Amino acid sequence: MIAIHNNPSEVVFHYRWIDYCEKNNIPYKLVNCYDDDIIEQLKGCSALMWHYHQANFKDIVMAKPLLYSLEQSGMKVFPDFNTAWHFDDKVGQKYLLEALGFDLVKTWVFYDKSSALNWINETTFPKVFKLRGGAGSQNVKLVRSKSVAESLVNKAFGKGFPAYDAWGSVKERIRKWRLGKTDAFDVLKGFIRLVNPPKYAKVMGNEINYIYFQEFLPNNDSDTRIIVIDGKAFALKRMVRANDFRASGSGDFRYEREVFDERCVSMSFEYTRKMNAQCVAYDYVFDAENNPKLVEISYGFANKVYDPCTGYWDEQMNWHPGAFNPYGWMIDLILKNGK
Ligand SMILES: Nc1ncnc2c1ncn2[C@@H]1O[C@H](COP(=O)(O)OP(=O)(O)OP(=O)(O)O)[C@@H](O)[C@H]1O
Ligand SMILES: [Mg+2]
Repeated sequence: MIAIHNNPSEVVFHYRWIDYCEKNNIPYKLVNCYDDDIIEQLKGCSALMWHYHQANFKDIVMAKPLLYSLEQSGMKVFPDFNTAWHFDDKVGQKYLLEALGFDLVKTWVFYDKSSALNWINETTFPKVFKLRGGAGSQNVKLVRSKSVAESLVNKAFGKGFPAYDAWGSVKERIRKWRLGKTDAFDVLKGFIRLVNPPKYAKVMGNEINYIYFQEFLPNNDSDTRIIVIDGKAFALKRMVRANDFRASGSGDFRYEREVFDERCVSMSFEYTRKMNAQCVAYDYVFDAENNPKLVEISYGFANKVYDPCTGYWDEQMNWHPGAFNPYGWMIDLILKNGK
C-alpha cells in the first residue's frame, strides 16, 4: 500500500498520483504528514509519496527530516535522499555536481568576506549571482561590475538577503500582467507582500554568510530543461524574458522535439544513473562553443507546464511521440522495488 500525503493543491503531484492509482486499481492511502502520529498512520504502508514544495512554510521545516527518517527505517519514499537532499539548495548542488564530475557552469561559493573580495579583484564581469534557494529566476541576478559585486558581498556578510525578493516579485508580476499572463489581483498581491512577505520567507530567515556566483554564459535565448524519471526523459525549452537573460519563470515555452539538443537528453540520462536518483530536472544553457552546461537541478516541477510535452525519449534515445504520464512513472518506480 502506497501512502500519499493529502494535499488538495493543483500545483503539486498528489492529485495526479491519486488519479493514476484510481485508474489502475493501485491501493493507496491518504495521510497527513503534518500530523504528530504520522509514523503510526504509515503502519502497513510500504511507501510514502509527497511532493513537498520549496515555498510551503510547513514543508520546509519538516519534509526532508520525515522522508529521510522513513527511508532510513527501510520504507520506500518519494523523493528519496539521493533525489532531494540538494533540492532548493544551489550551494549543495555545486559540491554534488562537482564531485560527480558533471558539466556544471563554473560556480564559486565563498563563506567569508575577504575570500569573496579577493576573488572579485581577480575575476572578470559580468557574473551571475544567485541565492541558494528560490525558483522562477526570483533570486538570480546579473552582476555587471566589480562594484556591484562588492556591494552584494557587503550585504551577504552584513544583514543578508531575504529569501523572497519583494521588489523583484512586484516587477515580475507587472511584467506578466502587461503580457496578459496574470491578472491585476496578482499584481496587488505583490504590493501587499512588500509589507507582508510570504510566511515561508519568514520561516527561512535571511540568506546570510555565503555568496554564490556563476560564470555568465551569454547569448542564450532560452534554457533547456530535461526531466528524467525511471529511464524516460522529456523536455521543455523556456525562452528568456525580453531584455533579460533569464528563462525560468518567463511563461514562454517550446515543446517540439526539433527544438532540443539531444546531447542534453543523453547527458541527463547518464547523470541520473550516476546520482542514483528517482526524478531529476536538469537546466542547461550553452557556452560559446555551443556545448550544453548544467545550471542547476531540481526534483520538483510545475506539473501543468509539462502537459503539452509532445513525447519522451527512452534510455536508448528512441523518441516516443504523444501524450504520457510522468506521475504514473513515479508510482511505477515506487512499486518496482517496493520493500
Ligand atoms: N550561469 C548562467 N548563464 C546564463 N544564464 C543563466 C545562468 N544561470 C541561470 N541562467 C538563466 O537564468 C534562469 C534562472 O536560473 P536558475 O535556473 O539557476 O534559477 P531558478 O530560479 O532556481 O530556476 P528554476 O525555476 O528553474 O528552479 C535560467 O532559466 C537561465 O535562463
Ligand atoms: Mg532553473
